[in-house]
Amino acid sequence: MEEARNAAPVRSGEIPFHKPYIAEDEIAEVLDSLRSGWITMGPKTVRFEEAFRNYMGSKNAVSMNSCTACLHLALKTIGVQEGDEVILPAFTFTATAEVVTYFRARPVLVDIDEQTFNIDVSKIEEKITGKTKALIPVHYAGQPCEMDDIIALARGRGLAVVEDAAHAVPARYKGRMIGTIGDVTCFSFYATKTLTTGEGGMATTDNGEWAERMRILRLHGISKDAWKRYTNEGSWHYDVIEAGYKYNMTDIQAALGIAQLKKVDWMWTRRKRIAEQYSASLAHLPEVRTPDVKSDRESAWHLYVIRLVPGSLTIDRNRFMEELRGIGVMTSVHFIPLFRQTYYANEFRYTSGSFPVSARLYDEILSLPIYPAMTDEDVGRVAESVEYVIKKFRK
Ligand SMILES: Cc1ncc(COP(=O)(O)O)c(C=O)c1O
Repeated sequence: MEEARNAAPVRSGEIPFHKPYIAEDEIAEVLDSLRSGWITMGPKTVRFEEAFRNYMGSKNAVSMNSCTACLHLALKTIGVQEGDEVILPAFTFTATAEVVTYFRARPVLVDIDEQTFNIDVSKIEEKITGKTKALIPVHYAGQPCEMDDIIALARGRGLAVVEDAAHAVPARYKGRMIGTIGDVTCFSFYATKTLTTGEGGMATTDNGEWAERMRILRLHGISKDAWKRYTNEGSWHYDVIEAGYKYNMTDIQAALGIAQLKKVDWMWTRRKRIAEQYSASLAHLPEVRTPDVKSDRESAWHLYVIRLVPGSLTIDRNRFMEELRGIGVMTSVHFIPLFRQTYYANEFRYTSGSFPVSARLYDEILSLPIYPAMTDEDVGRVAESVEYVIKKFRK
């Protein structure tokens, strides 16, 4: 009987892990750029920066071709140098740490908080040394970190705070937008993110000098408004004032960003609804734990990460994902902790024993699909599929 009631949810095609929400207005805006003849950085990039700055309420917004580039230039701008240390969570994507290694500085990992998956602030202080230069909190899945505590800790020790907000468009901490709190905040517009330009990123900061330095560094270190040299306003003459990078955004990317930003609140509301629908549908299953967002903050809901309660199923997380795939539901894992990656383990001798929470949670988690292009039926089917696999393999 139980078997009959627990029939596999009706399969009608696959539910991908992610699909960007691209509509006719994005397409029209990109076509407009293509027809205008201006396809690399230009007027639309400037417009997108302006719109993003206004949306976030920050004083400056500097676009680049990725969040990784933003993190790199943020660290360069605040003055990270060879031999310095930068503190960040163990439970993040490699980009957060790799930018530290660009300087021959050391990424110093801190374990995470079990409820939020964000850096455990109570474990930061013991990692601060005379070499520590900055903290990079990561707003995991879109839920803001304990920013008051992080800022207080940093200010007391003279450290900079560079936020990795790759997941956090839009997110709020105690009513304040992420993008207006730390020294520099770095956002990602990668294809799977809550606002996408295909590839892209934005650094916000209230420090005008830092913003100007990042603007110069992102385009070869050329003094002021290098892109204008091909316009009537500009001049062919330019001056390279330091060795920079080729990190600029293009107008084709910015065209996507302009259209996406107009619907960012709608897309956020849709993600929130999906998260609520999942949490309500899965609440009765003791084998899963659904995500928790603290009451004083709002998540961007970039990811919806569930935990499988250890010992409650006859299969492990990997097999659980395979079972879901078998019935057409694609999932992912965010993240494989840095100490489990060959490079970080070899180069910095990190081991899982030093990060017990991250090590344990890594084995329990999977990310369910969450994106505005999903219908309520899609969300229902994912939840039913999770329930189906649980019932099939519960102890
Ligand atoms: C936490 C985190 N930081 C940084 C990045 C890098 O973003 P980008 O691909 O725009 O460089 C990602 C990308 O997935 C991420 O998840």
